[in-house]
Amino acid sequence: MRIIFAASEVVPYAKTGGLADVAAALPKALMTLGCDISIVMPRYRTINAGQLIIDAMPVPFAGRRYCSVWFDRLGSLPVYFIDAPQYFHRSGLYGESDDVERFAFYCRAVLELCKRIGPPPDVIHCNDWMTGLIPVYLNSNYAADPYFFKTATILTIHNLAFQGLFDPSSFGLFDLDPSLLYGEKGLEFGGVASTLKGGLLHCDAITTVSRRYAQEIQTPEYGFRMDGILRYRRYSLIGILNGIDEDEWDPTSDKYLPAHYSIVNLAGKAICKRELLKTFNLPIELDRPLLAIVSRMTDQKGFDLIIKAMDRILETKAMLVVLGSGADKYERYFQALRDSHPDRVGVYFGFNNPLAHQIEAGADIFLMPSYYEPCGLNQMYSLRYGTVPIVRATGGLDDTVENFDRARMRGNGFKFYDYDVNQFVERVYEALLTYADKDVWHQLIINGMSQDFSWASSARKYLDVYHAVRRD
Ligand code: ADP
Ligand code: GLC
Repeated sequence: MRIIFAASEVVPYAKTGGLADVAAALPKALMTLGCDISIVMPRYRTINAGQLIIDAMPVPFAGRRYCSVWFDRLGSLPVYFIDAPQYFHRSGLYGESDDVERFAFYCRAVLELCKRIGPPPDVIHCNDWMTGLIPVYLNSNYAADPYFFKTATILTIHNLAFQGLFDPSSFGLFDLDPSLLYGEKGLEFGGVASTLKGGLLHCDAITTVSRRYAQEIQTPEYGFRMDGILRYRRYSLIGILNGIDEDEWDPTSDKYLPAHYSIVNLAGKAICKRELLKTFNLPIELDRPLLAIVSRMTDQKGFDLIIKAMDRILETKAMLVVLGSGADKYERYFQALRDSHPDRVGVYFGFNNPLAHQIEAGADIFLMPSYYEPCGLNQMYSLRYGTVPIVRATGGLDDTVENFDRARMRGNGFKFYDYDVNQFVERVYEALLTYADKDVWHQLIINGMSQDFSWASSARKYLDVYHAVRRD
């Protein structure tokens, strides 16, 4: 099975969120299952790895443009980089006014590259709106190209809120037949146009990153206006829970931790907590519960609930550390909270991977009351690191966190159902009460740490999808 895995961010080369973790770990797991798989991603300005393998590859896009191609190996996994400085040498990955054009170019370049690097892929695995035009180009501009006769596509939705929206007046740029704007499978979407919509209509199968989210996105509440399309394609839609990279996120060997620990010896976790408290200039009081947040600071992640709950949380003895960046309103709030409670609250604004690992290890409780959460990786990292998650029961959070049942000593965390501050605070209080009973807490931690969140079984499900869409 030959697979091209197209993703706009891949750890360790570029990352803004969980997509990058998945885009490295899933191909690795698929390779272990025997797939011949290669990643293709853009070469952003910050990427230095690899070597130049194609100097000027023509890409039929907006007249004709060229890109060069770089190559690297991630372990033994081949990674190709599309290098087009005019599109990808920007200050960040996304957020530019010409984003749709940039990634449309990337999509076209992925297809051109396929033809240069070996036999036709059985499947091109696309991820989110940035790759949405790959199935569209394949079904139109490349429909008569014998090289691609047997190539199928799947599209994984990591976050339906991001849809690659653009003004239909710029459709001409993309070298697509005009019928692909307003026709039956057109990209037009309520007055604008969307690359994600194109991908969803033209791919052979749609996957998303948890079973719960696969159901939720078919409803108006979570469908971001695409629920109708997803209901229409429901027989080609499946939810497959993300795994985690168990080499990267392993408390017995994590290179970023001051001490290591395991399910049979948790002593190192206390050392991690001590060091974390020092990092944030908080009092070294190991018996006080330490709550943590590591997150993009967006509405998705439930920050308005966290803010509404904060006074009541701070009435307890708990301390809080926060790592994140994003919306100004949230950064300002946490800065003010830190300033008014310097002995209770620590904050770090920015992206800091070592610190994310240190927080997962050093904290006692992880807060993730998301409004929606396609999968969520942090709650799984928390569980593996013996840090108890408190989550809202949505998407992958619902699929991975089971409420702790003290009578039967079952469950791995705490979850609440409605997007409601009182329910959230109740769960926080319940967690803090449980924390006070060391033996019970220990069992709760062990329940989480002994779970299997490896990619092995999910990768097999992707392989089943590849077999199902395969054309021969
Ligand atoms: P999302 O992809 O929606 O942001 P996930 O939980 O799937 O949510 O993945 C988030 C990933 O990004 C995790 O690997 C997490 O550790 C990481 N992360 C988020 N914010 C930061 C940050 N400020 N610094 C370092 N890592 C972060
Ligand atoms: C998105 C989602 C997150 C998911 C990640 C990886 O960023 O917001 O829930 O875990 O993609 O699939």
